[in-house]
Amino acid sequence: MSAKERLYSFLETKLADYDLILVSNRQPYEHRYSSKGIDCITPAGGLTAALDPVMQATKGVWIAWGSGTADRDAANEEGHVKVPPGKDLYLLHRLWLTKQDLKDYYYGFSNQVMWPLFHNAFGRPSFKHSFWRGYERVNKKFAVAVNKELQQRKGRNTIVWIQDYQLALCSEWIQRDYETTMLLHFWHIPWPSSELFGICPWRQELLRGLLHNDIVGFHIREYVYNFLRSVERYLPEAEVDYRNRHVVYKNNITHIREYPISVDFDYINHAARSRKTVDRIKHLRSNMRFQFPIIGLGVDRMDYTKGIIEKLKSLAVFLKKYKHYRKKFVYVLVAPPSRSRIDLYRRVGYSIQNMVSDINYDFQAAEWQPIVFMHENLPLDELIAYYRMADFLIVSSLHDGMNLVAKEYVAAQVDQKGVLLISEFTGAAKEMKDALIINPFDTEQFARRIGEAIRMPLRERRVRMQKLQDYVAKHDIYHWLYTILADALDISTERKLF
Ligand code: G6P
Repeated sequence: MSAKERLYSFLETKLADYDLILVSNRQPYEHRYSSKGIDCITPAGGLTAALDPVMQATKGVWIAWGSGTADRDAANEEGHVKVPPGKDLYLLHRLWLTKQDLKDYYYGFSNQVMWPLFHNAFGRPSFKHSFWRGYERVNKKFAVAVNKELQQRKGRNTIVWIQDYQLALCSEWIQRDYETTMLLHFWHIPWPSSELFGICPWRQELLRGLLHNDIVGFHIREYVYNFLRSVERYLPEAEVDYRNRHVVYKNNITHIREYPISVDFDYINHAARSRKTVDRIKHLRSNMRFQFPIIGLGVDRMDYTKGIIEKLKSLAVFLKKYKHYRKKFVYVLVAPPSRSRIDLYRRVGYSIQNMVSDINYDFQAAEWQPIVFMHENLPLDELIAYYRMADFLIVSSLHDGMNLVAKEYVAAQVDQKGVLLISEFTGAAKEMKDALIINPFDTEQFARRIGEAIRMPLRERRVRMQKLQDYVAKHDIYHWLYTILADALDISTERKLF
């Protein structure tokens, strides 16, 4: 039985009388005005990409910030709209945030405090009190929306599943019936060491907020232990059980577990083999920019944690050192814009654009530029053509909770000729043992690895890719979902028994 079949059978039998309410800051579909009317786009980022198939399978309700210019027009008075467009498989409940909310909660506390702090502070956190107040205010707004949905389901078994670092406090204000409501929180980014976490003035409030859940999930064991140590250190009144990996705090038990997130392997693999993808690749190859034997690829939100600058530095060293590869390869950098209202993001964006044009200027030759820079958000089906076409993919994150681009690449490599180079500072590197591991801070080593990837014999590429594919096919998004929901059900049953 495939992981997907196992999940569906579990949903239809064991979870049949459970409703699912998913809560995240970012929504899976955004409506925007365009010259043609209203467009519906899928925002960039691992969280929404991973959870959309989950919601399609469970048909619950997803509560998220209505961030698009045409979102209100596309939804009803309550902010509800059925998605995916045309398929109408589940309900998206949009929440409206004010400009001030966004300034303090999203651009402020979430992305100028939590994001840098939880990614080893490669950007310095800006601990403004107004940001914190906005974070609390908006977390309450999300809780109010959850409470509304819970009211409509009174007496029914419901799993409320909160996502990520933007909503650490939310469950504190959820009015739940312990008999029927389970609260889960999945943390999509790293949890840093307790020393680093401890510099946050609101460390206790964040921990207390999370300890209202029944399960808090992380990608890898290291983050689980970092969390447990943080609780032990900063909430002395909580009881930390390392062996069973749970915390008892004010009569509530929170299980702290690891669940490495993944992708819909079969969907991507199937799409990569399709006629449409083959035609797309042909079309791409007919473009002057891609008419070189070796294609390298990177797909990263424009974010300082993704190590794009480090990657460009290494590509420059590589081009300098291995002159014979000039005019033989192009590196395609797909970097959709992200959080560009934040000054640091803008500055990093400018530096990246300048570096690309400097490298292209320094190394260019007749009809050849080494870097093709695409500052846009490509839909998954289009990315799949790039993934299949690319001879190697580089994930160079300086710190990354998981990194789903690596897994998407593996799923789309149907010819098994591609090589995955991945930073050792990603969650995915802990699982992707057959990839080439890089340290993005070590420019010389990084450049050498690019050379190794290009020279790797086809036989070795195939062996490595096969192993990676076996792993991701088995540990796909349905496997991830099954393990979390099965744990939730076990805990809920256990609670009812005692
Ligand atoms: C990361 C975070 C997600 C976030 C995504 C895109 O993957 O873990 O929570 O949604 O980045 O960032 P954005 O700020 O645009 O939602």
